Amino acid sequence: MDIIWHSKTKQYHLYNDEISYIMAVSPLGDLSGIYFGKRIHDKEDMSYTLNRFSLPNESVDPDTESYSMELNLQEYPTFGVTDFGTQAFEVEQKNGSRLSAFVYKDHKIFKGKKGLTGLPATYAGEDEAMTLEVYLEDELTKMSLTLSYTIFDKYPVIARHAVFTNNGATDTKLTRALSACIDLPDQDYEWMQFSGAWARERIPEVKKISVGSVSIESRRGASSANQNPFVIIKRPGTDEFKGEALAMSFVYSGNFLAQAECSNYGRLRLLMGINPNTFTWLLKKGESFETPEVVIARTDSGLNDLSRTYHELYNNNLVRGKWRNTPRPILINNWEATYMNFDEERILNIATKAKEAGVELFVLDDGWFGDRDDDFSGLGDWVENPKKLPQGMAGLARKVNAIGMKFGFWIEPEMVNPDSNLYRRHPEWLLATPGRKGSLGRHQCVLDFSRQEVVDYIYDMLKKVMENAPISYIKWDMNRALTEVFSTGLPAEEQGMVYHKYVMGVYSLYERLINDFPDILFESCSSGGNRFDAGMLYYAPQAWCSDNTDAIDRICIQYGTSYGYPISSIGSHVSAVPNLQTGRSASIATRANVAYFGTFGYELDLNHISDEEFEEVKEQVKFMKEHRELIQFGTFYRLRSPFEKDQAAWIVVSKDKKKAIFGFYCLKSNVNQIPGFIKLAGLKEDSVYTLRGEEYYGDELMNMGFKLGRLSTTDLVIGQDFVSYVEVIEAK
Ligand code: DGJ
Repeated sequence: MDIIWHSKTKQYHLYNDEISYIMAVSPLGDLSGIYFGKRIHDKEDMSYTLNRFSLPNESVDPDTESYSMELNLQEYPTFGVTDFGTQAFEVEQKNGSRLSAFVYKDHKIFKGKKGLTGLPATYAGEDEAMTLEVYLEDELTKMSLTLSYTIFDKYPVIARHAVFTNNGATDTKLTRALSACIDLPDQDYEWMQFSGAWARERIPEVKKISVGSVSIESRRGASSANQNPFVIIKRPGTDEFKGEALAMSFVYSGNFLAQAECSNYGRLRLLMGINPNTFTWLLKKGESFETPEVVIARTDSGLNDLSRTYHELYNNNLVRGKWRNTPRPILINNWEATYMNFDEERILNIATKAKEAGVELFVLDDGWFGDRDDDFSGLGDWVENPKKLPQGMAGLARKVNAIGMKFGFWIEPEMVNPDSNLYRRHPEWLLATPGRKGSLGRHQCVLDFSRQEVVDYIYDMLKKVMENAPISYIKWDMNRALTEVFSTGLPAEEQGMVYHKYVMGVYSLYERLINDFPDILFESCSSGGNRFDAGMLYYAPQAWCSDNTDAIDRICIQYGTSYGYPISSIGSHVSAVPNLQTGRSASIATRANVAYFGTFGYELDLNHISDEEFEEVKEQVKFMKEHRELIQFGTFYRLRSPFEKDQAAWIVVSKDKKKAIFGFYCLKSNVNQIPGFIKLAGLKEDSVYTLRGEEYYGDELMNMGFKLGRLSTTDLVIGQDFVSYVEVIEAK
């Protein structure tokens, strides 16, 4: 890994063993892209790659008479000059002009990586990464711009963000400040996004790209279940095991934009950042604005390899503290078992039975506070309800601890019910537009987290409950989108800042609570997977993946989630049947076989299952305890997609390739078909492995494949509805 600056030619080459990222100070003084791809040799001068000619009807720079931005690759493009593509940023000046001209001034290259201020970001030690900061200035407005590029030693990854500083004489406004742009010289790619809605999150969708744009965005205040801030572009023919692909992952939890734009001259532009549709930022004299980070990765070896990069990078360089690379506790959550209808006795009953099965952590979900027996009231009043918790949270936590389990509870700090003491005391603390009717979502309003005093108030209330009880875990929920967004705490010219300030408020509360309680495991949640993003993983190393706990749907949801996020982050539980969302009944074995590939836990009252099932549960807990480290932190490969067949399969392999866990799932019966073979992955070719007592070579399992019929005494069984198998594969 190194970052080379060729001072004569003014070119940069960032490289590691796998990738090269080359760019130059352009003839206009701004930054132009030269190459991003597989590692290539360094050369002092790559300027021959620039297009220095003009085409009919093109505009060119008057001094050079030959350089059009539109015909070249841009690093952080602006609009209004000779590039007619979508701009990465826009500054509205006092006189109304939106034209900028940033030119190179200086740069700094250093080992390691700086943190961002108040924002989540990947981190790295001095031997893990190198950073280039390029300093540019608009000489007319005196606005300065820093473009930051970090290259990681071990990963084919570049992390980028930008910082604007207003050194001019007047206040100015950022009307767009995306985090990164990559221009590529050809358009032969497909676009892959991860879309959905509540209970059907992160379903992969592939689109052809051609002249014009394809984009996804969130305007919901959270990154959303509807579009995930993670996109891939891949060459046609790229599959899980071969081919070129590039991805952008946004380390941010609010409104975002991700876009691919094909120009008429063969250029492909990728953009990612805060959604400009819901953003303007007043940048007063002397102030800076820092964009969130985008993590860009690439591969020549298919999508599994791309996912592996994100899994390892996020496990090692995004998740922080005690829970970084630490296997997650097996938990039981009372939500689907009781909803809000519980008392201490019921909770202790559930916990006692779960302890008997070997479960390690009890999570008390919604309904423990204020006047909260249904979702019409109580949110915002973070004080224990004495009817349900007669000795408070501390009393219950101690009783659960006495059973031999850790204890944690649910919060939804960003919300308030109109029927609550907090709302009655502070009706001005909502996001609400004056004179307009406010929408409700799940009978609740959104607190104005752009206001410091609101965040402080919630912090004080939560801290009190948390410090008084022996707590090991917090589930942080967020159950509605932001609407009628307006803050009474801000003047008119700052209303465009509210969405981002809200997210910053959420991050600041997380940061304070994590600092106060460094050992607590946070799990983020937003009506399930409505805020499953890399930003959240910086604070909460795991996220409740979906409110849909149906094992068969979960195969799809977890499969889709695995493209951009590590298995250690995927909150997954066994719940009761018939499933509350779909009415389906999968066996307890299949429900666990799916939930193993995540953090694993239970979301039902184990007192209500049969004795035989309970014996199975005990075995499941034992199995997960034995294998969770491998499952959550091993190398994960998708083998068969539930979106293509009625079957799915995946495998996770230990780093030394001595052990693997293979999961196979039949979503829908396939009557009168031969089950066939499935090719496994990640094993050592010449090692001998045992699978169900039989011996196989690694190359045999990976090239000929594993004969699926061997999973059952009769080939037909494996093709039945909801049948699944999880197998341990061990090298001899
Ligand atoms: C939505 C979450 O996704 C559920 O798991 C549960 O915590 C409820 N909220 C509680 O209101």
